[in-house]
Amino acid sequence: MSQQRVYDHRMSSGRSLAGPLHKMLQDSDLPFRDFVEVALYYPELGYYAREGSPVGKTGDFVTSPHISPVFSFALSLLISEFGAFVGGETSTIVDIGCGDGSLIYSLYKPNAMRFWGVDRSLQRVKHRDGVQFATSLAAVPRGDAQLVICNELFDALPFARLVMRGEHLHELWVTERDGVLDWSEHEAEAKYDDYFAERGVELRDGQFVDVSLDWESLYEEICGFVTRGLIVTFDYGYPEKQLFSGRIRQFGTAAAYSGHQVSRDLLARAGEQDLTAHINFSDLERAGERSGFKTLFFDRQAKFLLAAGATEHELLAPLDDVRAGTADEALEVRQQREDARRLILPDGIGEDIRVLVQGKGVPEAGWSFQRKLF
Ligand SMILES: C[S@@+](CC[C@H](N)C(=O)[O-])C[C@H]1O[C@@H](n2cnc3c(N)ncnc32)[C@H](O)[C@@H]1O
Repeated sequence: MSQQRVYDHRMSSGRSLAGPLHKMLQDSDLPFRDFVEVALYYPELGYYAREGSPVGKTGDFVTSPHISPVFSFALSLLISEFGAFVGGETSTIVDIGCGDGSLIYSLYKPNAMRFWGVDRSLQRVKHRDGVQFATSLAAVPRGDAQLVICNELFDALPFARLVMRGEHLHELWVTERDGVLDWSEHEAEAKYDDYFAERGVELRDGQFVDVSLDWESLYEEICGFVTRGLIVTFDYGYPEKQLFSGRIRQFGTAAAYSGHQVSRDLLARAGEQDLTAHINFSDLERAGERSGFKTLFFDRQAKFLLAAGATEHELLAPLDDVRAGTADEALEVRQQREDARRLILPDGIGEDIRVLVQGKGVPEAGWSFQRKLF
């Protein structure tokens, strides 16, 4: 195992996770899944529990709403279409894993719909009028119809890291040796063997996989919230046959992000770098179907945004139609146009992120995002 350390509790300041982690690891080693839970969500010190938002051009990584307003523009078109389908009923629009709230604020319009942001931590939200926030979906009034958006929610859930050793599945744990974090391996809990057996997935000797049992349970919770409406999930991930293919992904998908750099050093700087793994979209799709949802769309983000009407945005208008005054303004517009194109070009984020739309009690066909473009 090459991934290790860059952690020394003796050198750390009081405002880091080093102290709490050292204390926990004195009592016992931690399954890597629990280490991720601490690193991302430990009160006040976890990566997503701190005040400053790590998302954005000056942060550690960017998400689609922070790349270009074209993303929320396309979603606004979908919300209008949704409003027209459900008629005069009271609709609730919820962004789960809303982070600093910028996406849900950009979708808000003063109309009969109610707009909610939900996040485990609301520390980063800058409150303005119109949108309400909660730390759990259970606190959100349903209304008559619901449109739920999850943008990079599931890839932020704590995940286990597992490796096949001969016939046996092992789980990676975190231990402390001389004040330095290191890996150890234990036979995996039965629930992980069951996970792969139930899905008919056979892992190769030496293959690593990253799995969250919370993908399915959180999606089930969302399905339980929606009585009539849509769940729109944007995330990094694949159907399970691709995700767990030993030929393509022998080392799993776990990665750490900091300052727009990706690293495989998952134990470094706990609480100061993002930890993420690609998700199993088949888990979500099946959980939805069990709850009476139909899959209306599953494909790449670029395709979804184009079909949903992204090109109607002025940033994607032909260059001849764009007017910019000064040279600085022209440069700014050029940058914004490039950012907008990043979302829809068939490479980068437009290619990597997949979109799953499931619906219940709504038309199964005729939505803009289902249009065939070519
Ligand atoms: C990668 S960030 C994405 C933030 C935002 N959606 C965006 O696109 O910029 C993931 C967010 O999901 C939140 N989160 C994680 N688990 C959650 C849960 N069970 N319920 C609500 N929010 C959760 C995290 O706190 C974090 O703000």
